[in-house]
Amino acid sequence: MKTHTRGNPTHGLSKISKGIPSLLHAVAGVPEMTERVVIGDAVLYHGDCLEILPTLGRVDCVVTDPPYGCSATTGRGGAYDKFEIAGDKDTGLRDWLVSVLSCPWIMFGSPRIPRPPCKAVLVWNKGEHTGMGDLSFPWKPDFEEIYINGDGFAGPRTSSVLAVNARKDSGREHPTEKPVHLLSALIRKCPPGTILDPFMGSGTTGVAAVQMGRKFIGIEIERKYFDIACRRIDDAQKQVRLF
Ligand SMILES: C[S@@+](CC[C@H](N)C(=O)[O-])C[C@H]1O[C@@H](n2cnc3c(N)ncnc32)[C@H](O)[C@@H]1O
Repeated sequence: MKTHTRGNPTHGLSKISKGIPSLLHAVAGVPEMTERVVIGDAVLYHGDCLEILPTLGRVDCVVTDPPYGCSATTGRGGAYDKFEIAGDKDTGLRDWLVSVLSCPWIMFGSPRIPRPPCKAVLVWNKGEHTGMGDLSFPWKPDFEEIYINGDGFAGPRTSSVLAVNARKDSGREHPTEKPVHLLSALIRKCPPGTILDPFMGSGTTGVAAVQMGRKFIGIEIERKYFDIACRRIDDAQKQVRLF
């Protein structure tokens, strides 16, 4: 496995150090092909969470947006109309994750697929510019669900409906990218400690976590999205250090 360190908080930022032998070392149990990038308090893995998750130590809370299992497309043309999300053909990945987790978790999902067993369901109202679907039907599908399970969530007692505008296509780097504000609102109520996102996509959960001073572990299987996540989380760390 390759390990790179970025943005040491005490030494300023350094570029990703591909090929510098002193920064590369194997971590016991982690598959050889996995790349591991350390950015301040965030540890990011490029690889398959099915293989990496069992090698990780204890985490305190999982906050994730797994492939929903509904072969998502936007249906409205444009850059993301024909996108494909790895593992999105069915709910197998989500269901596997639910079956192996023993810590509290928060998971996004679609109202179009069966819910996982959970303690509570929140509704994410995605705002004005979303919800194309069947244009002849007089209600538009402009919400998604957020499943909560486990104990230790705390904070002010707020509505189960979270109104946060989804990012417009033009502002997104991942076809199903979530707004950072939405993840911040969720992480704020999570039990203390390390947050894990095994399906991190472009790293939105990680950005919110590092902005809030939380330790973060992220895993992403697609190289393109992994690289975007590294950059976004690196940028978030820089911002945090500025203030
Ligand atoms: C719904 S997207 C997450 C988007 C993310 N919330 C964001 O804001 O960018 C799910 C991600 O899981 C990744 N994925 C699918 N199967 C995976 C696996 N076995 N291990 C790790 N990542 C996987 C996909 O490539 C996709 O980027």
